[in-house]
Amino acid sequence: MYIIERKIMHYPLPNSSSPTQFNQHNPINNLVVMDSPRKPSSFSTNLFFFLLLLSTNLLTLLLSSTFYSSCSLNPLITAASTLTTPHATSTNSVSATQGSDYASESSQTNLDLPSEFLAFTSGQLLPFGFNTNFDSDTIYPPAGQACTLFSDELRRYMTYKVNGSCPDDELLSQKLLLKGCEPLPRRRCRPAAQPDYVEPYPLPTSLWTTPPDSSVVWTAYTCKDYSCLINRYRTQKGFDDCKDCFDLQGREKTRWAAKQSNVGGGGGLDFTIDEVLATKKPGTIRIGLDIGGGVATFAVRMRERNITIVTTSMNLNGPFNNFIASRGIVPLYISISQRLPFFDNTLDIVHSMHVLSNWIPTTLLHFLMFDINRVLRPGGLFWLDHFFCVGEQLEEVYGPLIESIGFNKLKWVVGRKLDRGPELKEMYLSALLEKPLRNSW
Ligand SMILES: *[C@@H]1O[C@H](CO)[C@@H](O)[C@H](O)[C@H]1NC(C)=O
Ligand SMILES: *[C@@H]1O[C@H](CO)[C@@H](O)[C@H](O)[C@H]1NC(C)=O
Repeated sequence: MYIIERKIMHYPLPNSSSPTQFNQHNPINNLVVMDSPRKPSSFSTNLFFFLLLLSTNLLTLLLSSTFYSSCSLNPLITAASTLTTPHATSTNSVSATQGSDYASESSQTNLDLPSEFLAFTSGQLLPFGFNTNFDSDTIYPPAGQACTLFSDELRRYMTYKVNGSCPDDELLSQKLLLKGCEPLPRRRCRPAAQPDYVEPYPLPTSLWTTPPDSSVVWTAYTCKDYSCLINRYRTQKGFDDCKDCFDLQGREKTRWAAKQSNVGGGGGLDFTIDEVLATKKPGTIRIGLDIGGGVATFAVRMRERNITIVTTSMNLNGPFNNFIASRGIVPLYISISQRLPFFDNTLDIVHSMHVLSNWIPTTLLHFLMFDINRVLRPGGLFWLDHFFCVGEQLEEVYGPLIESIGFNKLKWVVGRKLDRGPELKEMYLSALLEKPLRNSW
């Protein structure tokens, strides 16, 4: 059925050089409009296209009961959709329009969007019809609604050769994602890759070994190899994200392992993994999430304790996701804006260091805290590690905000953040919070 419907797009559309006139959700009108942009449509044209539509649908029905090859993609279509612009979507809307009010919803807004974006996001009929789990016969693949706010970037991102190589545009796509086009739309192309990729080191060597430079496409970063990244905290000024993280022989080596206060005055803000785990029955912390986990040293240490942690990270001026994966840890490329991709009451622990801080809009942070609460199981731990803000913000805004979620406080340590100078009056909060075993309602 999929294939047959897709074929409809090969009908020659008269005057298809005026795609801006195209109303993708009303195929009958489209055809008429495109046929005669200015004249009012005559009854006979209407009738003709109505019959055309009817016959293709009857054909669809007939053929779909004959073939069951809904899982194969007709290669013709892939090739054709590089050429066709709005046509690809007209197919979907032909189907989506029937028996639904989809047509009237968003026909105005889609006029100026890239065809591949429309091809991805338009409703797609389920090959076997209505599905009770979905309560629908149509899937609308999600791409953040905000994508359409950035039409220039979106157009650049979605302009590529279908079935070809994707543009090497990591920076563009990450910016688009970070400002709200998340999840990014899928693309039908192959990502840029190193020509001389070598397979990763085996475990457990991979956990603490710098991977080869050939595991990364370096285009998007200031540094062009790992030795540059490892040395940048010595050689470069400024506050790059996680600047000294790539040096596995440096600070990473002791993070969360030993009391930092013994080494350099952590003021009790540096909890160790073992003291955190000791707050629960042995073995009951098994799976979890580290939000904005740098190079995933937290997950590596947890792995050494047989605990599985998924690490979210962006690639802010460094190949964090590649590095994490090379170590043998699962990287998750999502920003702090997106709903966490876990089911309610499932994770044993959520950790986050430095990332959750006052740079996040307060309302967004409030939603985020509730989402962390949602994915944690009852009795699960939320380790808020070095949250930072300025001066009175902690007492006036963030303390109450965090407390309002309703966690039990196992540890709550406030200290001064001095790395950028005492005059900035920056504060740290490290907290170990526990989701109550019983909800209070
Ligand atoms: C898609 O690309 C692959 C790899 O380049 C090629 O083998 C295949 O024939 C292409 N398919 C179409 C339909 O162009
Ligand atoms: C992790 O699991 C392995 C295999 O079950 C076991 O041999 C090892 O002792 C465990 N390590 C820790 C720290 O519990």
